[in-house]
Amino acid sequence: MFAAPTALSRRMWLKGAGALGCADLFPKLASATETEIFSEGLKDHAARKGLIYGSAVEGLHLRTNLAYQETVLRECGWIVPTYEMKWGVTGQVRGNSNYARPDFIVDFALRHGLKVRGHTAIWYLNIPKWLGEALHEPEKPDVFDTHIQELVTHYHNRIREWDVVNEAIDFKDGQPHGLRNSIFLQTLGPDYIARAYRVAREADPAAILVYNDFGVEYPGARQEARRRAMLEIVQNLRRENLIDGVGLQCHVNAGQRFDAAVFRKFLKELADLGVSILISEFDVNDTQLGPDIETRDQAVATYAKDFLDVALDEQAVRGVISWGISDKYTWLNEQPFARKDGAPSRALPFDEAMRRKPLWNALASAFDHAPQRDHSDPIIRPVK
Ligand code: XIL
Repeated sequence: MFAAPTALSRRMWLKGAGALGCADLFPKLASATETEIFSEGLKDHAARKGLIYGSAVEGLHLRTNLAYQETVLRECGWIVPTYEMKWGVTGQVRGNSNYARPDFIVDFALRHGLKVRGHTAIWYLNIPKWLGEALHEPEKPDVFDTHIQELVTHYHNRIREWDVVNEAIDFKDGQPHGLRNSIFLQTLGPDYIARAYRVAREADPAAILVYNDFGVEYPGARQEARRRAMLEIVQNLRRENLIDGVGLQCHVNAGQRFDAAVFRKFLKELADLGVSILISEFDVNDTQLGPDIETRDQAVATYAKDFLDVALDEQAVRGVISWGISDKYTWLNEQPFARKDGAPSRALPFDEAMRRKPLWNALASAFDHAPQRDHSDPIIRPVK
């Protein structure tokens, strides 16, 4: 009887409870205003232009915070598990994967008609404790292949799109092609990237395979090098028809100078390779802004609007996924990203009480002003 109510059933519940004179059964739910509850969500603004909007979510919060759950359902067409699908979570016991946590999110999504991005098969962080040793064993490639094969197969027909490899670039490591010196590079060599996509392609030939990375949005030599490295990865994968899209994380920083021309050029270069582009982990770091909330929220919104207008102007860009939806749950409060003054970050479109912020308006307005996409399915398949 007290199973997690859907947005609709909860409203009906409230009505019923009110009629019975016990409306304060759900005192914490009076956060969003009526306008917010009954107006269109960001997904609707996006969809009108053939674009998508969604958010990274955490299963625990979906289960325990109804106001959050309702916000996600109202605003998002897509969701992405923040960490639950990472190898370190599903693969704690070697040879006995446990998908209970990501399954909860995927089941939730499908029950409510949302789509899910698979994030992520191969990442250098959040990996099982046993993996380092295992990858050095003679049968090491099996561990790698089996993980990807099993993960993609487990979600066959439920997840259409995968971040197969995440964050493979890091020039600091001094490796050829700017590749990060991850455990995968060390044990399998640079071919681990193509290998991952080959396994994923075979496991689900209909799935959209994406390469996801950060640090390619800004001017300057460091990011320019990362852009070249990313283009090289995409080009190599395209040669074997192993990739369909790229995810640009776009953890932007409101204190950093944005150069529209540089970003536009990069988007065009990616589009010319025949891949679709997703702004895959959008949020606005506000650590360089003053503490006053009103001023900060305005500055974050203005910055985001300028950035998103450029991003959405490129036809190959399919839409925006933000890395969280409410300031109550943002990774930007984790170290080393948190503000030095201890004030909570205001990086996301909803505040801690699930009320819309100026950043919500910036996103809605960017979608409203984006050029119409000429395809009804926002996923662009590669030209064979
Ligand atoms: C982050 C989560 O948001 C954090 O809670 C966790 O501590 C670390 O991982 N790029 C990615 C995401 O691709 O998987 C990361 O998620 C954020 C950066």
